[in-house]
Amino acid sequence: MSSTGSGMTPTETPLGRQLMRRKSIAAMSRDAASNGMGQLKRSLGVVQLVMISVGATLGTGILVILGEAVPQAGPATWLAFVIAGVTALLCAVSYAEMAGMVPVSGSSYSYSYATLGEGIAWICGWCLVLEYAVSAAAVAVGAGAYVNQTLQIFGLSLPDALANGPAEGGIINLPALLVVVLATALLLRGAKESATANTIMVLIKIAILIFFVIVAFTAFDSGNFEPLMPMGIAGVSGAASMVFFSYIGFDAASTAGEEAKNPQRDLPRAIMIAMALVTALYVLVAVAAVGARNWEWFSDSEAALVQIVSEITGQRWLVLLFAVCAVIAIISVVLTVLYGQTRILFSMSRDGLMPSIFGRVSAKTSTPRAGTLVTGLVVAVTAALIPLGQLAEATSIGTLFAFALVSVSVMYLRKTQPEAPRSFRVPLYPVVPVLGIAACLYLMFNLAVITWIVFAIWMAVGIGIYFIYGRRNSRLGALDEQQYQEELAL
Ligand code: ALA
Repeated sequence: MSSTGSGMTPTETPLGRQLMRRKSIAAMSRDAASNGMGQLKRSLGVVQLVMISVGATLGTGILVILGEAVPQAGPATWLAFVIAGVTALLCAVSYAEMAGMVPVSGSSYSYSYATLGEGIAWICGWCLVLEYAVSAAAVAVGAGAYVNQTLQIFGLSLPDALANGPAEGGIINLPALLVVVLATALLLRGAKESATANTIMVLIKIAILIFFVIVAFTAFDSGNFEPLMPMGIAGVSGAASMVFFSYIGFDAASTAGEEAKNPQRDLPRAIMIAMALVTALYVLVAVAAVGARNWEWFSDSEAALVQIVSEITGQRWLVLLFAVCAVIAIISVVLTVLYGQTRILFSMSRDGLMPSIFGRVSAKTSTPRAGTLVTGLVVAVTAALIPLGQLAEATSIGTLFAFALVSVSVMYLRKTQPEAPRSFRVPLYPVVPVLGIAACLYLMFNLAVITWIVFAIWMAVGIGIYFIYGRRNSRLGALDEQQYQEELAL
């Protein structure tokens, strides 16, 4: 239990007041510079930060989602990617403003703590666990499926016992386990080392998508774009909610606030560059894929890109190469998403809302090694044993909710601290953040009812944990009124 030395028990602060307690930006910067459990090392430049965001974003979504999105949106799938991309961009600019103002490791959790108070910050942090840890496990499970499908092209397959968890008739999903173990091992080596490995993997996955686009354009038929929206605009907007999953992760650079060499300058840049790059690639891939194959071809295709390459080139070795690169792409997502999760937990632990193990900094690597090990272990076991299905779909709601909160935070600080230094400013204020919030809500309400139910259960569990753990251990909650006012006035 955290102690303030004030001699009072933390739960003496009335609940309503505790939920509303905020952390000033100055207090966050102070904590980042003098965390009792050690400081992270600033080793990342703008290129590595861009690569962290691209690494976390570009992955399974684009590799597998066309099989679901094209039957719904038809040839206008590229438009669904544009709609989801614009939503992400509207949020990305808010992230850029906040990351420049509050360059700590907690991303939107910290932004909410600085603006809307501990209650919403906790909810945001819990949503980020969906966006990061749960999606890391889900993406790793996807890697297992991808390895299997590729082996099948060669007439091979993993034994069922090693390809699926117990709920699906197997014992363990070995590929998923290996992907997470590998990513965790890389992370344990240090932030700079992980960033270098990630940069190589990101370059490989960008190359493989460009390769796909080139191959697919050799079979381009403009007739495939007629009719553009066979399921109408409703089909396109439904698909936009679905493909939003493939944009999740652009915010990962904002979890590197305490490891960036020049966070004020580089974080906003990294987020914007990553978004532009990813959106351009997705739209290109969608146009190239639908140009190469009639939209009806995509139904039930789980690995559309690799199938198109296989059919057009007829070269099995290319298919193998593509598949290997796809698995590398997935490892890079798991690596960067795990990175983000450990840094968010690090910030939450510093505030007393998560156990102290997540906030301990290793003297050897200047990274939260113990927390990384625990996070990696939990994600590895989850990926190996549990089919995440619905929970993975709920990641989009959780992420959209966290994104909307960032736009709210921007508006809050523009009102309460108009003069505070900002290294990046949201353009066309307040239109952009208002549109960002509206777009997030629109995509959230487009998602299936079952996804909402799963999300509600997830949130109920999170609120329960707050009452059992966070409320009692919160560092800010334990301050008496005078100490709190002093902290706020920093
Ligand atoms: N955006 C990430 C992906 O598509 C989660 O894999």
